[in-house]
Amino acid sequence: MTAARLPDATQATGTPLRIGLAGLGTVGIGVVKIVQRHADLIAARAGRPVVITAVSARDKSKNRDADLSAYAWETDPIALAARDDVDVVVEVMGGHEGPARALTEAAIAAGKDIVTANKALLAHHGHGLALAAEAAGCVIRFEAAVAGGIPVIKVLTEGLAGNRITRVMGVMNGTCNYILTRMQSAGLPYETVFEEARQLGYLEADPNLDVGGIDAGHKLSLLSAIAFGTQVAFDHVELEGIGSVSIDDITLADDMGYHIKLLGVAQMSGRGLEQRMTPCLVPADSPLGQLQGGTNMVVLEGDSVGQIVMRGPGAGEGPTASAVMGDVIDLARGLRLSTFGRPAASLVAAVPAKSATPAPYYLRMTLLDKPGALAKIATALGDAGISIDQMRQINQPNTQDEKAIVLIVTHKAAPADISHALQSFAMTGVLVGAPVAIRIEEV
Ligand code: NAP
Ligand code: HSE
Repeated sequence: MTAARLPDATQATGTPLRIGLAGLGTVGIGVVKIVQRHADLIAARAGRPVVITAVSARDKSKNRDADLSAYAWETDPIALAARDDVDVVVEVMGGHEGPARALTEAAIAAGKDIVTANKALLAHHGHGLALAAEAAGCVIRFEAAVAGGIPVIKVLTEGLAGNRITRVMGVMNGTCNYILTRMQSAGLPYETVFEEARQLGYLEADPNLDVGGIDAGHKLSLLSAIAFGTQVAFDHVELEGIGSVSIDDITLADDMGYHIKLLGVAQMSGRGLEQRMTPCLVPADSPLGQLQGGTNMVVLEGDSVGQIVMRGPGAGEGPTASAVMGDVIDLARGLRLSTFGRPAASLVAAVPAKSATPAPYYLRMTLLDKPGALAKIATALGDAGISIDQMRQINQPNTQDEKAIVLIVTHKAAPADISHALQSFAMTGVLVGAPVAIRIEEV
């Protein structure tokens, strides 16, 4: 029997894989640094050198934290696609239209493979681009687009390929997790911590991409496509940002053993595909509940493997460039996979679930503290078919008005029944202000 030949340093003299790099910001410069710092290591692992031949950004005169003198400069990033000395286009400019989309389409037209960190581009155009790329014999890889340095695409596409995936969950926006955990640890309101995050440079240029749940929703929609064999359906993701999460709810939920997370959940049921990116309560002692600061966590569940939990940096120069380079090295090795883990033409249109899987809910309301008030709320819940699991009343002795905060954790209930109950609460005449309802995700 002949021993299999593995790539090693002695084989690293093969034809170099040549990168055209579009974008020299946080991620792009991270890629340059890895290519330069680990040239020998990468060549040994890939069995051939990986080099950058040409680069592009908006401003050639900008001072950048890397030596770019050996690379050709293209003023127009789209020109990278047509260069004879570029085999792979690495797109790390960002934006779901404009040059990022045009460059990706030009690369496909030129028969070049593409590595991108651009979740917005793929969330909006992923299916069409995958169809076009596969028809042209090109590969699109996007590990860096989801959860930064965590190699979740590779695990889902390759390692778990023998599983029926039952659920995908994750905290996939570090900025939101930073804001929520900082509110909790410092007891500060959302507005104060949002401003801190802005000062620290954590927020995207359009902060609503982060705090509105859009960035994390983009990521979830890409994982759903791989997990469930559906065409990317970002438009069907139920999105709710963290702007309305109050310090009161964070503190009260904590007292009841829960932490609030901006949690993505995707699952396929008889109802169709459920995709949610919404604030949820999770048990405080669960891995998701324990996740602090800007770190990301992705939880994958498969019928054979059970549950896998991956935790790591979801953003930043090194982690994101690490993911980009993992994809580039796969291409250098000759690993050519379909964009979403199966031929794009076989991905089916996602049928969005009309209603979400029932779950327990956390309800907080302020009631007039008078006889029968709580009974009216309990009756409204009962009439909506909702059963109470836990209840706690917190009287406010120092206030002039006689009011009480009431916390209720329900047994599993359909979201429509919860909405119905909330409407009924408004008719009771005992409610002060609007009630809050937050889903409790069983993790
Ligand atoms: P960035 O720091 O803002 O850098 C963007 C780069 O693209 C800059 O070099 C910019 O040129 C260049 N660029 C922008 N528009 C261009 C245009 N029209 N023509 C030519 N060049 C253009 O962005 P980033 O943080 O590196 O992010 C890049 C991509 O990675 C995005 O899709 C982002 O969502 C994704 N991503 C980022 C992270 C992260 O931690 N930063 C994590 C995961 C995914 P100038 O430098 O000349 O302005
Ligand atoms: N704004 C994103 C985050 C960056 O906070 O996680 C990585 O996509």
